[in-house]
Amino acid sequence: MPQGRAHPAVTCAAAPNIALIKYWGMRDVERGLPYNSSLSVTLDQLRTVTTVRFSDSATADRLVLNGRRATGGALASATTFLKVVRKMSGGSAYASVRSRNNFPTASGLASSASGFAALAGAASRAAGLKLDAAALSRLARSGSGSACRSIFGGFVEWRAGRRPDGRDCHAVPLFPAGHWSQLMDLVLGVRDAPEKAVRSAVAMQASVATSPAYAARQEALPARIAAMRRAIARREAARLFPLLIEECDEFRLVCETTSPSLDYLTATSREILDRVLRLNATAGRPVAGYTHDAGAHVHVFVERADLPALRAALRGCPGISRRWELRPGPGIRFLRNAAG
Ligand code: PMV
Repeated sequence: MPQGRAHPAVTCAAAPNIALIKYWGMRDVERGLPYNSSLSVTLDQLRTVTTVRFSDSATADRLVLNGRRATGGALASATTFLKVVRKMSGGSAYASVRSRNNFPTASGLASSASGFAALAGAASRAAGLKLDAAALSRLARSGSGSACRSIFGGFVEWRAGRRPDGRDCHAVPLFPAGHWSQLMDLVLGVRDAPEKAVRSAVAMQASVATSPAYAARQEALPARIAAMRRAIARREAARLFPLLIEECDEFRLVCETTSPSLDYLTATSREILDRVLRLNATAGRPVAGYTHDAGAHVHVFVERADLPALRAALRGCPGISRRWELRPGPGIRFLRNAAG
């Protein structure tokens, strides 16, 4: 954008996504290129709203997160991201970024995915770039890997690609949010969830280097991804939920066999997983399927008709601090009103 011209403010909203097949390990750390493709659902209700305005008179990038001026790590990663945007647009102006989450920030509920997806949308447009969806997804990826999936709504696949330059490494929409309206994600926020000791981007490379389970996982993934895509296409909960549990258990095994070991769960998280397994065993069919990321909170997928049975199975489970009953939701949206 040429210097001296008025720079418009642009506001963009994005939602977190939960990975059904996890991204865990990079073949190229510099470019953020993963070893394997991953699958996710973008969620409704939860969102980040971000407004970006470039200003010729600003002397540094500025970030206001949930109404408070950010410094340290949050500001540093926003600045690194804005540098990428400036390089793409050829502009040199610094930016003012205001961002707000309607759910707890940095609590293990994927605020970095919604945060970088919203920032990618708002910053690229505010800089005068007109990126297509694949380019936006690649840009979001440079902030946080999983953010590339939050560009799209509904069921999403992040294709790992093969090219060394990463051009074919971006998310693609598989099915829109309305494809499976009966599918629900019961998100269980766990009390006293520990703060992440090691950033995911660092932890996953430790798994690549040290987990004896990593190579076998990579071999199993293509077939699991294909089976999961098929189950989603046919809305077959009885096929999807066992695959979801298998994937989550394998991801956890890779984490636990990493040296030093990565243990993200609390006793409450483990109790929730056990209760879901018992519910399925008692019913004699896969009523629900669980998953979790590199954090203690648990997502339990269930079809709407079975939600009462799942609620009953979790009744009295100690240590659950919050719960959200979510459905597949939309991808990024550009808004008129600025984030406060
Ligand atoms: O997007 P990152 O770099 O925070 O890594 C995300 C890793 C997992 O959440 C554990 C898996 C995933 O695919 O979202």
